Amino acid sequence: MSTSPETVKADLLEVFSKFKGQREELIPILQAVQERFGFLPESAMSALARFTSVAESRVYGAATFYTQFYFARRGKHTIKVCCGTACHVRGAAPLLEAFERELGIERGGTSNDFEYSLERVACVGSCALAPVVVVDEKVYAHMKAKQVKDCLADYKGKSRSNQ
Ligand code: FES
Repeated sequence: MSTSPETVKADLLEVFSKFKGQREELIPILQAVQERFGFLPESAMSALARFTSVAESRVYGAATFYTQFYFARRGKHTIKVCCGTACHVRGAAPLLEAFERELGIERGGTSNDFEYSLERVACVGSCALAPVVVVDEKVYAHMKAKQVKDCLADYKGKSRSNQ
């Protein structure tokens, strides 16, 4: 996806056309921008500030307050390795390390090909299935480090909607 200033500008106009530009719309607009680009491009932030008449620093303040927003391009697929207590005692740490090794990135990172982003998360509410990994919306129960390669192969080169 191109994120040149020109492309971002054209796409932003399209996103903004669905809103009135009111201050109260700041979070929904941030969500819409992120949905469009997969993250919040830097050039979008000043445009958003102008559109909503909110100071750019406040736009950044709002975006950094919520963990749902990202400022760098993310992978097509998000891998969440649960490291809550139940998953921890059932081997979440070696599982997370296996993903890091296989992807060549650390937790919080995105692979060079922008296929995957890897996250370490707290309890996802499925402790009976520990250790749990969630890829996009799919839950992998009783996951083992030796299954990591096959798990990744399920997603490589596929869009989220193909899963
Ligand atoms: S601790 Fe992992 S699902 Fe609850």
